[in-house]
Amino acid sequence: MRWVRALLKNASLAGAPKYIEHFSKFSPSPLSMKQFLDFGTAQVSEETASAHLDQSPPHCLLSLAEAINLEADPIMEVITLYQISSWRYVQSLLDIMEFLDKDPEDHHTLSQFTEALITIRNRHNDVVPTMAQGVLEYKDTYGDDPVSNQNVQYFLDRFYLSRISIRMLINQHTLIFDGSTNPAHPKHIGSIDPNCNVSEVVKDAYDMAKLLCDKYYMASPDLEIQEINASNPRQPILMVYVPSHLYHMLFELFKNAMRATVESHESSLVLPPIKVMLALGEEDLSIKMSDRGGGVPLRKIERLFSYMYSTAPTPQPGTGGTPLAGFGYGLPISRLYAKYFQGDLQLFSMEGFGTDAVIYLK
Ligand SMILES: Nc1ncnc2c1ncn2[C@@H]1O[C@H](COP(=O)(O)OP(=O)(O)O)[C@@H](O)[C@H]1O
Ligand SMILES: [Mg+2]
Repeated sequence: MRWVRALLKNASLAGAPKYIEHFSKFSPSPLSMKQFLDFGTAQVSEETASAHLDQSPPHCLLSLAEAINLEADPIMEVITLYQISSWRYVQSLLDIMEFLDKDPEDHHTLSQFTEALITIRNRHNDVVPTMAQGVLEYKDTYGDDPVSNQNVQYFLDRFYLSRISIRMLINQHTLIFDGSTNPAHPKHIGSIDPNCNVSEVVKDAYDMAKLLCDKYYMASPDLEIQEINASNPRQPILMVYVPSHLYHMLFELFKNAMRATVESHESSLVLPPIKVMLALGEEDLSIKMSDRGGGVPLRKIERLFSYMYSTAPTPQPGTGGTPLAGFGYGLPISRLYAKYFQGDLQLFSMEGFGTDAVIYLK
């Protein structure tokens, strides 16, 4: 592994082989929803805490190591903006390594570890806009021919998936071990809501997107929700999920649907509503968002998931406010969120009419 060699070059890390041997025994596969839940619902006794301290640092290390390994990708050489801050992953890796030889039974270790994780999370907060800016730079220098497009796609999918998974790990740990329950959501297990009300999240995401849409266009389409709970027709649809992930996906889809609707109805007085249909079956929960925003030709559908593709003007840094569109990140990152827990996100469009975006969740 390249990053291991790089670490070994560092004289101050003479003890590194021992650490590496220790955590190379763990598999880097992402944890499943069930694993997160089992851990979060176990009584947080000293025993589970120390078992957790035994396993959590290696898990974090693997994810960080993966991010550092990705940094050796040739694509990184051209993303100069990002290089300026690439020390951050190495620093975080070193921060976590501190905990590998600490006694997991020690009381202070747990709180120190929690502190360290919070520092790490803050250190990496602005990675997404930095990367977005870096990719724009790449596009300016190298153009967006299919080959560089594919390279960037492959690289960023792995990069962001590793980011989603390490943030999930850190959030679970900090929320469960900071000793207090989340006052707004006392029933949540870390960031997981065992009874996530899907249509509530749909409405929240719609409201937020509507604010932005009204600000840019001084108009926005209405929302219509239909809910089909196959086995419990009278009950709202609830699921075990991370509400912030669901919100993220829906917010991105709403922004896209609103922009398409408003821009394709510039000369008409009424805007067709955005229709959201929720269906819960035995295996899948599907969320379909239908707009009448003119659609996209089939030939272009896969391109919409490219990190380098957007039909909106590129947002300029520092011009204030959240842009409604323009980085081209909405769809690819939303699909990664859906896939993280074994779901998917697909677009079906009828050019000349509108688009259906469907989120499938397990
Ligand atoms: N519902 C939709 N109707 C029409 N075009 C869409 C729709 N959703 C996405 N698109 C197209 O896909 C592109 C990429 O979308 P996205 O990944 O969210 O990035 P951004 O919104 O920043 O451009 C948009 O610029 C737009 O051209
Ligand atoms: Mg978008």
